[in-house]
Amino acid sequence: MKKILVLGSCGQIGTELVLTLREKFGNQQVVAADLRDVCPDNLANGPYIKLDALDRESVRTYIIGEQITEVYLLAALLSATAEKNPDFAWRLNMEGLFTILDLAKEGHIQKIFWPSSIAVFGPTTPRVNTPQYTVMEPSTVYGISKQAGERWCEYYFNKFGVDVRSIRYPGLISYKSLPGGGTTDYAVDIFYKAKAGEQFNCFLKEDSALPMMFMDDAIRATIELMEAPKEQVKIRSSYNLSAISFTPKQLAEAIKVEIPSFDIVYNPDFRQAIADSWPASIDDSEARANWNWKERYDLNKMVKIMLENVDLSLLKN
Ligand code: NAD
Ligand code: SER
Repeated sequence: MKKILVLGSCGQIGTELVLTLREKFGNQQVVAADLRDVCPDNLANGPYIKLDALDRESVRTYIIGEQITEVYLLAALLSATAEKNPDFAWRLNMEGLFTILDLAKEGHIQKIFWPSSIAVFGPTTPRVNTPQYTVMEPSTVYGISKQAGERWCEYYFNKFGVDVRSIRYPGLISYKSLPGGGTTDYAVDIFYKAKAGEQFNCFLKEDSALPMMFMDDAIRATIELMEAPKEQVKIRSSYNLSAISFTPKQLAEAIKVEIPSFDIVYNPDFRQAIADSWPASIDDSEARANWNWKERYDLNKMVKIMLENVDLSLLKN
């Protein structure tokens, strides 16, 4: 029987991933783990432990002792936060991965999910419909760590048969928890201001197109990839994955259809340079061909759901 550990479970992806995995495989089969001493209320329907991804010995002891079969490793610093603390970002984003890859190499874990990002691409990458295989010269510490992580995942698969699976997530948009310090966070923050009836001060330019995805699609893609038969998973670095691409202006226009009084101003900061180095849209034909990926949410559908569901009280926690 599966016993799953989601390490980094209290963040934007982890919160929703844990709940969906528990619905699918049973509450007791999915352990949430993060740095917090106490389990947050929204993950209280199953087991929670405090576990530091950088504490190699504690992670090893827990995984071996509890006979964990699958690990989703989500603990990381995202692009904007990582630029403020590059040394620590490199350490967190790489060391945790080696601990989990080594456990799988030794036969303690059967399957790993490790997320990569559109940040693996850089300013020399073709920006439109970015191919799976292309020039990759990331210019952020976050992108460098994700690219290196991808190489190590593929290496552990080729050399040691480690069943590691990965997606290059685009910017993810959700309402159940707040985003954790990325360049695409504006596309979540905007909904809180729109719902509060306030002007939104956007940290990217109005024409800055980036690939994005509604969280339900991202969670479904993650579980579909993890449940796909091994022989269908032909890419062991990380899959390009795509759903919607839009600019801040296009997102604001879609919000104005629902809230005509909504107002946005643009004051680009250091995150603009990061956005400029990333793709505007992604070619994910390999994911579609290998494991039948298809998105379900377009821009207008996502906007309606976000405006209905964003909860302003989350900002107070
Ligand atoms: P997040 O910042 O919202 O959540 C990360 C979680 O990890 C937090 O709950 C944090 O407390 C926890 N964490 C940090 N350090 C830890 C440690 N040492 N030990 C245990 N837990 C620790 O991030 P997220 O958006 O949920 O992203 C999860 C993963 O997905 C990351 O690898 C990120 O790079 C990747 N990703 C996210 C996006 C996105 O748009 N959200 C896009 C591409 C890739
Ligand atoms: N959403 C993430 C970020 O902006 C992309 O990996 O950092």
